[in-house]
Amino acid sequence: MEESLRGLHALMIVCLVCSSRLSYVWAHGDGLVDQPLSKIGVHNIVVELDDSVSVNAYPPILGLEGQDTEWVTVNIEHPNPDKNDWVGVFSPAKFDGSTCWPSGDPKKQSPYVCTAPIKYKFATDSNSGYTKTGKSCLKFQLINQRADFAFALFSGGIWNPKLVAISNKISFSNPKAPLYPRLAQGKSWDEMTVTWTSGYNIDEAVPFVEWARDGEPSKQSPAGTLTFDKNSMCGGPARSVGWRDPGFIHTSFLKDLWPNTVYTYRVAHRLCNNEIVWGKNYTFKSSPFPGEDSLQRVIIFGDMGKAERDGSNEYSNYQPGSLNTTDQLIKDLRNYDIVFHIGDITYSNGYLSQWDQFTAQVEPIAATVPYMIASGNHERDWPNSGSFYDGEDSGGECGVPAETMFFVPAENRAKFWYKTDYGMFRFCIADSEHDWREGTEQYKFIEECLSTVDRRKQPWLIFSAHRPLGYSSNQWYGEEGSFEEPMGRESLQNLWQKYRVDIAFYGHVHNYERTCPVYQSKCVNEEKHHYRGALGATIHIVVGGAGAHLSPFSKVIPRWSIYRDYDWGFVKLTAFNHSSLLLEYKKSSDGKVYDAFTITRDYRDILACVKDGCPATTSAS
Ligand SMILES: *[C@@H]1O[C@H](CO)[C@@H](O)[C@H](O)[C@H]1NC(C)=O
Ligand SMILES: *[C@@H]1O[C@H](CO)[C@@H](O)[C@H](O)[C@H]1NC(C)=O
Ligand SMILES: *[C@@H]1O[C@H](CO)[C@@H](O)[C@H](O)[C@H]1NC(C)=O
Ligand SMILES: [Fe+2]
Repeated sequence: MEESLRGLHALMIVCLVCSSRLSYVWAHGDGLVDQPLSKIGVHNIVVELDDSVSVNAYPPILGLEGQDTEWVTVNIEHPNPDKNDWVGVFSPAKFDGSTCWPSGDPKKQSPYVCTAPIKYKFATDSNSGYTKTGKSCLKFQLINQRADFAFALFSGGIWNPKLVAISNKISFSNPKAPLYPRLAQGKSWDEMTVTWTSGYNIDEAVPFVEWARDGEPSKQSPAGTLTFDKNSMCGGPARSVGWRDPGFIHTSFLKDLWPNTVYTYRVAHRLCNNEIVWGKNYTFKSSPFPGEDSLQRVIIFGDMGKAERDGSNEYSNYQPGSLNTTDQLIKDLRNYDIVFHIGDITYSNGYLSQWDQFTAQVEPIAATVPYMIASGNHERDWPNSGSFYDGEDSGGECGVPAETMFFVPAENRAKFWYKTDYGMFRFCIADSEHDWREGTEQYKFIEECLSTVDRRKQPWLIFSAHRPLGYSSNQWYGEEGSFEEPMGRESLQNLWQKYRVDIAFYGHVHNYERTCPVYQSKCVNEEKHHYRGALGATIHIVVGGAGAHLSPFSKVIPRWSIYRDYDWGFVKLTAFNHSSLLLEYKKSSDGKVYDAFTITRDYRDILACVKDGCPATTSAS
C-alpha cells in the first residue's frame, strides 16, 4: 500500500514535471530545451550491482604531461545487454548515498544516489553490436574538474536507472590545477581582470598572476578568491542532484596597462612550501584609450550554451549551434578584440558541473580577449529570489554561479548592469532579469551610462540586454502582439532617443533580426544598408542564435524588420574610425557574412535634432 502510494506520488511528480516542461517549450516555441542531465531520474536510481558485469576505464592517471583535457576509454562487458543501457560519468568518483544531505527524517531512507553524473552516453553509442555481443568501447573526453572520476553502467534507461556496475577510479595527476582563465575589462580602461578556477583555497596556496610586456621584467599581481556553497543556491537541481562543488574562483586585477599593448600572462598558486603551481602561458592585447582612433572590432551574440565534443549527452541536441560558433570564433581570434556574450551563457540550469565544461569550451577565446557577459533568464530567474521574472529557468542557481565565475565591472555583481568603454565604443549593458522601468535603480543607471559619454570621442553608443527590450518579430512576441519583451521599450525608448543610442543588441530569442532605425514602431530612415548623416533613431538587433535551438519568426513581418535569419550566427562590429562603422552578421556554420550595413557620419550628425530628442534652444543671444 505504502509502496504503491509512493509510486503514485512519484507519478504525480513526473506529470507535474512534464506539464511544466510542456509549458516551457510552448512559451519559448523552440523545441527541445531540456538540460540533458535533467532527463536522468537520479532519485529513481536503484542498486542491483552484478558481478558478471564489468566496466573498466583507462588510463588511470590523466594529464601526466600537464594537459587539462584527455580522452578516456571505457570498456563494458554485460551478459544481458539492452539498447537502453547507459554509462554515467560521476565526479567525484565516490557518488553513493554517503554524499547525500541528511533528509532530517529518520524514517525516510536516504536515496542511494543524490548527484547527477557530469555526462552520459548510451552503451550502443558507436557500437551497434552491443545488444548482441554485450561488449562496448566508449570514448569520453574529460576535463580536469578538481575531483576523480568513475563510470557507472545502468540498465533500465535514463529515467528509471538500475545501477549494475561501477568502474575503477581515474584521476588527473593534479586535480587542483589552476585552469580556464577568462579575461574581462576592469572598471577603468587601463585594467584587465583575469579570473580562473582551481582547487586551492587560500589556506593552502596563494593565488596570483605573473605578467609582462614583451621583453620587460615580469610583475606579479595578487588575486582575490571566492567560492559558494550549496546554501547559496535558491532551489531546484542546483540545491540537490545538480549541485557540484565549484572549487575556488580567483580574480586578479592587472593595472596601469599601456594601451594596445601585448602582454603575456600565466596564473599561479604559491604553496606553503614555496613551490609554485603554474597555469599555461597566454597573451592578450590591452584595451585602447577611450576615444582613441584605431581599428576596433567587437563580437556580440547571446544564448550560446555548450555541447560535448565526444558526443555525450546525445551530442548537440541541447545547443546545436554552440560548437560551430565557438570554432568560428577560435579560428578568427586574430580578427577581433573583445566579445560580448549577452546572457544565457551555459544553460547549466542548476547542473553546476556544466560551468566547468563551458569555461573549458570557450577558453581559447576568453583567455585571449575580454569575454564580457550579461545576465539572462538561465543565469538568474528563480521564484521569490528577487528576479523580475518568477520562472525557474536558472534551475535554482539564482545568478550565483554566473556572478562568481565571470567578472563584470558592475558596482554590485548581483545587479548585473554595467558600463564599459572600448576605444570609440561605449557599452551600456543592462540586466533584463531585474526591473528596468522608469523609477527603478536600473533605469537610473541606464540614463547615467548613456548620458556620461562624450560622443565626439566615443561616437559609437551601444545598448544591450538579454531579452529583446526593443523589437523582435519572433513568433511568441508576434502572438502576444507586443513584438518586444512586454514592457520592454515603453520607458527606455525615450532614453535611447534622447541620448542617440546607435545600436541595441539582444539575445533570448534564438535567431537574427535587424530593424531600421526605429522609434515608436516607425522607421525614421528608409535606407537599408548605407546610413549617412544622422541615424534618426536606434537600430535594434536580435542576435540570440549562437547555439540554442532556433526560435521561429511570426508570419507577419513588421515594416521595421529589415533582415531575418532562422539560423545560428553572431555579429561583428568594426569601428574603422570616428566616422565609419560596419556591422556584419555571420553564420556559425561557415563564418560568412549574410547581412551587413555601414554608418558613415560626422560629429554634427550626432548632435543634430531627432524626433522627440531635440534639446531646447532659445532665441536670446
Ligand atoms: C611561460 O613563460 C614563462 C616566462 O616567460 C617561461 O619561463 C615559461 O617557460 C613558459 N612556460 C611554457 C610552458 O612555455
Ligand atoms: C574612416 O574609415 C573609412 C573606412 O575604412 C575610410 O573610408 C575613411 O576614409 C576613414 N575616415 C577618416 C576620417 O579617416
Ligand atoms: C556546423 O557546421 C557544419 C560545417 O559547416 C555544418 O555542416 C553543420 O550543419 C553546422 N551545424 C549547425 C547546427 O548549424
Ligand atoms: Fe534567454
